Amino acid sequence: MSAGISIKRLEATDAGVYRALMLRAYSEHDTAFTSTFEERANKPVDWWSRRLQDPTTVTLGAFDAGDSLIGTVRLEAYQRQRERHKIQLTAMYVMKDYAGSGIGRRLLDDALIESRKLNGIELINLTVTADNLPAVRLYSKLGFQTFGRESRAVKATLGYLDKLHMWRPVSADYLVQG
Ligand SMILES: CC(C)(COP(=O)(O)OP(=O)(O)OC[C@H]1O[C@@H](n2cnc3c(N)ncnc32)[C@H](O)[C@@H]1OP(=O)(O)O)[C@@H](O)C(=O)NCCC(=O)NCCS
Repeated sequence: MSAGISIKRLEATDAGVYRALMLRAYSEHDTAFTSTFEERANKPVDWWSRRLQDPTTVTLGAFDAGDSLIGTVRLEAYQRQRERHKIQLTAMYVMKDYAGSGIGRRLLDDALIESRKLNGIELINLTVTADNLPAVRLYSKLGFQTFGRESRAVKATLGYLDKLHMWRPVSADYLVQG
């Protein structure tokens, strides 16, 4: 279903298209992200470029057959010595027109492959808005388990949102069901 789609690591030169994609994500799915459209729209392209160049992160992009960026996911390393066995998965998004065709799954599969290439990374964690069922189902299918629910984690314009905290080992041997 996701034939013709390629997943590539984004570089500083992708900053313009990455910025446009993420701003679309924040505006289309306000409750799915902790950052807001307004916060991020105020950042110049240079801020996005530095973000993509940060050596403690990996940002992947899904490109369609015409080489347009249509989805993304990001890995951010923890900085403190005793947390360097962990990495955080953030900023996951697939454009609405392409949703439900397996691109999210491919982005996560590749994020897991990338995390295995990083020195000493043993586990990935993430947070997801508790009522974001498409995302929770996708993460669960890829082997992420919920280990906590943070009440009122986010105070959005329309009210508080709970976040689920999920994790999985990066190991390819880890048994995933479904
Ligand atoms: C969540 C999101 C990334 C999923 O990407 P996607 O490309 O549509 O996902 P896939 O097609 O790879 O679907 C994989 C699995 O996810 C789940 N899923 C995806 N869309 C779903 C939906 N609308 N309803 C229920 N489950 C869904 C299913 O379990 C699906 O597996 P299946 O097809 O075998 O049933 C995408 O919908 C999105 O960008 N949402 C808005 C932003 C967001 O919520 N980001 C996550 C922030 S934590």
